[in-house]
Amino acid sequence: MPNFRGKRFTNAHETMIWASKGEGAKYTFNYEALKALNEGIQMRSDWVLPICNGGERLKTAEGEKAHPTQKPVSLLHRVLVGSTNPGDVVLDPFFGTGTTGAVAKMLGRDWIGIEREEAYIEVAERRIADTRAFDRSALEVTRAKRAEPRVPFGQLVERGMLRPGEMLTSPSGKSAKVRADGTLVGDDVRGSIHQVGAHLEGAPSCNGWTYWHFRRDGKTVPIDVLRQQVRAEMAGRTP
Ligand SMILES: C[S@@+](CC[C@H](N)C(=O)[O-])C[C@H]1O[C@@H](n2cnc3c(N)ncnc32)[C@H](O)[C@@H]1O
Repeated sequence: MPNFRGKRFTNAHETMIWASKGEGAKYTFNYEALKALNEGIQMRSDWVLPICNGGERLKTAEGEKAHPTQKPVSLLHRVLVGSTNPGDVVLDPFFGTGTTGAVAKMLGRDWIGIEREEAYIEVAERRIADTRAFDRSALEVTRAKRAEPRVPFGQLVERGMLRPGEMLTSPSGKSAKVRADGTLVGDDVRGSIHQVGAHLEGAPSCNGWTYWHFRRDGKTVPIDVLRQQVRAEMAGRTP
């Protein structure tokens, strides 16, 4: 950010517009990925990032700055991880040195850049050609749990993955029986996997998927493993 002289506040921020194409339009916002980037805390709207300096700053053959307002890679990394997915196309109509294109390439996104200055186009093209894409397997970002398809517990029973009458157990030694309608029944309680778990633990809530276990081949396995299996089948992948 240019730091204007004079008796005034030091210019220390730029405003970023985060918008969708229209009311009700679908947009990508990788909330969980941004939270993960911020060590598990919801990402704030004020970002403190160092300006583009030092070795990151592109220079001409004469050692001059190749562009007056080259943006930092860290900024584009956060923008693209937060608002795009691998394979998406990112449009930057003010391409400059092509920071957007370079980071898009690293992150496995495609890009379209528009720039009117021939000198900057050359810099951007060279820069992007020299940029290496990250390993594809490292590009998958943390997704919101709700982005995963919902699998009702009853579906495990319908599919025969758990039999009506089969006993489920908890690590704390509680047990309940699976019923044909996808509910559980325990001593003085019946209801969903979550309700029965919460009741037996005397807790306000309980994640039944991790609480309840079944036995297979002498091992105790959380029922969540079966849910993951169903999700993997739905997505056409091997669990
Ligand atoms: C702020 S700079 C972009 C810097 C870029 N983000 C980077 O990291 O290098 C804006 C760029 O838009 C270009 N530009 C401005 N108006 C334009 C126009 N009408 N058509 C194409 N490019 C334009 C300028 O030449 C300048 O390089």
